[in-house]
Amino acid sequence: MKLLEKVTLGKQTLKNAIAMAPMTRSRATADGIVQELTVLYYKQRASAGLIITEGINISEQAIGSPYTPGIYNQEQIEAWKKVTRSVHDDGDVIYAQLWHTGRVGHSIDKNGNLPVAPSAIGIQGQQHYTAQGMQDYETPQELSIEEIKKIVKDYGQAAKNAVAAGFDGVELHAAFGYLPNQFLSESANKRTDEYGGSVENRNRFVLEVMQELVNAAGSDKVGIKISPTIYYNNIENSDPEAQFKPLIEALNELPLAYLHLMNGMFPLDHLPHYPKDAMETFGKVSRHLVIANAGYTRETGEAELEKGIAKIISYGSPFVANPDLPKRFELNAALNQPDLATMYGGGEKGYTDYPFLEN
Ligand SMILES: Cc1cc2nc3c(=O)[nH]c(=O)nc-3n(C[C@H](O)[C@H](O)[C@H](O)COP(=O)(O)O)c2cc1C
Repeated sequence: MKLLEKVTLGKQTLKNAIAMAPMTRSRATADGIVQELTVLYYKQRASAGLIITEGINISEQAIGSPYTPGIYNQEQIEAWKKVTRSVHDDGDVIYAQLWHTGRVGHSIDKNGNLPVAPSAIGIQGQQHYTAQGMQDYETPQELSIEEIKKIVKDYGQAAKNAVAAGFDGVELHAAFGYLPNQFLSESANKRTDEYGGSVENRNRFVLEVMQELVNAAGSDKVGIKISPTIYYNNIENSDPEAQFKPLIEALNELPLAYLHLMNGMFPLDHLPHYPKDAMETFGKVSRHLVIANAGYTRETGEAELEKGIAKIISYGSPFVANPDLPKRFELNAALNQPDLATMYGGGEKGYTDYPFLEN
């Protein structure tokens, strides 16, 4: 099976082509420090060829939800060292996903500060999970050029901190409607300066951040996750191909480890102009290794690898409930089903207590 074959990522060899997709589990302390339980959680899943961590806040401003971890102070870095050491002891490779939530947050969880965004446009028709329950979104504060430049630097510092914490590389979370995705979107970005108004200008922020990450972490150690056809969090483009193909072409010019590409996860009936096959449309443009994500099973993952566009498949929810997912794929064993009630927050229940296959 291709899923179980070794694959080269950057300068490293992965023991299989199965990645654990980044998943927020909201089990850090209120100060964004990961705990012993998180060390165990990742260690349990170290048979994945590659682990990509949950989104990690690059700064206090980046925080969108309670109990999400950070990597902007020494205590947070020290805590992550325990995770990377224990995963490396098992011969695994682990990347840190760097996260700035932009407008996908709430002042309740930001010390009273409003979320920031490319433009002062709040998310409509959805609510946000906060420490005080579900809340309507607020109108975010539009970022100034100086503030944008500061965020680019924050990403660079977070990447340096990730290297100091022992991570093998970093991934920019530019998918699912978070800050970088907001810059890429015509519905969230109405700027008229060099960060908005044209395809090239909307791509500028992401490309500046990626260059900063490469400067900080080095060649072949930086990846990026994008979701060109996901409209969740009020992200829309009149022509996703016109926006994302030039982005991927520009990313081709940087010395990256991979492009992590999501399929559309939601029905596209009301957006008939959106491409239906993200791998075919966008994956083929990438000269970097492609990690395919969203909705794959053992069989469809294998079939995707057979097609040859993607070299790695990342699995999210299957890894929540199956710490030994590669073994289960190998044996074609039944999978545990994830419990939705314990996805976010809480302790070991639904986190580190899913059963392994019995030997
Ligand atoms: C509980 C949960 C938390 C998630 N948190 C993140 C996150 O922090 N960063 C991210 O890029 N994607 C996140 N995702 C999305 C997953 O990485 C993945 O894209 C999605 O689950 C689709 O893959 P799947 O069909 O294999 O589950 C999350 C998904 C789940 C289920």
